Amino acid sequence: MALNKKTKKWLARNCPRSFEGKTVLITGANSGIGLKSAEIAVYLKAKLIMACRNADKASTARISLLKEYPNADIDIISLDISDFSSIDSFVNEIRSNGINIDVFLNNAGVFHKPGEKTANGFELVLGTNYFGVYYLTEKLLPYLESLPHPVTYINTVSIIYRTASIDYGDFFCTGKYNNFTVYGRSKLCLAKYSYSKAKQYEKSNVKILMNHPGISITPLGINAFGSTVGRLAKIFSRVFNSPEKSALSLPFIMANDLPAGSLAGPSRFFGGWGYPENCKLQKRAMAGAEELIKFTENMIEQRKTIG
Ligand SMILES: NC(=O)c1ccc[n+]([C@@H]2O[C@H](COP(=O)([O-])OP(=O)(O)OC[C@H]3O[C@@H](n4cnc5c(N)ncnc54)[C@H](OP(=O)(O)O)[C@@H]3O)[C@@H](O)[C@H]2O)c1
Repeated sequence: MALNKKTKKWLARNCPRSFEGKTVLITGANSGIGLKSAEIAVYLKAKLIMACRNADKASTARISLLKEYPNADIDIISLDISDFSSIDSFVNEIRSNGINIDVFLNNAGVFHKPGEKTANGFELVLGTNYFGVYYLTEKLLPYLESLPHPVTYINTVSIIYRTASIDYGDFFCTGKYNNFTVYGRSKLCLAKYSYSKAKQYEKSNVKILMNHPGISITPLGINAFGSTVGRLAKIFSRVFNSPEKSALSLPFIMANDLPAGSLAGPSRFFGGWGYPENCKLQKRAMAGAEELIKFTENMIEQRKTIG
């Protein structure tokens, strides 16, 4: 733990104001880019809420943050984004305790889970990265809208959305599982939904945006491709964005008044590498949301009772 000198310099130059007085909630804040985003928020003096499914990992991450930042204010709330009943409990906890949120980062995500299903019976990657985030967003937005101040709501997508497509005939790739097809589809769906929701909420106090991390070596890819690929990736890790650099899109969004529906992330090497910028969102993410939302609502209605 501890941010490197380059990051601190970049933050001082590009995000001169602290997050003091702001509450930042990050899902999946116990690992990879989520943990680095959490550290940056704490470094910039935000109050941090870690929304995690694994209590032990969350507690270990909290302790390591407190070791480096002893005055930090860090809470943990339980959330399994792949399970609608866990999302219901999470939203209830926030609502009933009137928990303040200034920034909400939906960072939690998975990649390559062939044959695995969510508690509600969805293919695990689509069920977590898209249906879970969709369900959570729909449940939480009325509360965030009731808060008496601006709220920044960020969904984490991936540059892979640019090559992804949606096949309503075999939405869950039951024919032949391909990790990039399924993962790419989950992030394209999330981008379409986020853009459309951002437009719908444009005149409210909740600004909805997206970020993407570029390509970064984290447990996400290492767990998917096995230890040999993981070791090779670590050796060549300088070719990729560090999780720390990938996490800079959070302070970048906070420091810049980007329009609702914007996508922040690296743009060098086709978006895989570099410091965050305001990226151009491809048309495929801006079109077709109506059909997708209808499909999603139907699927959620069917699966809500499972689990
Ligand atoms: N790394 C990249 O190159 C890359 C590229 C594009 C996009 N992204 C996106 O960036 C985000 C962060 O990924 P990462 O690379 O930092 O991966 P990571 O280190 O594997 O972190 C993923 C985080 O999501 C959490 N998570 C997964 N499923 C969850 C669930 N059902 N409920 C709650 N939390 C859950 C994990 O918790 P556990 O520790 O409990 O598993 C972990 O904290 C993801 O949305 C990913 O799709 C990453």
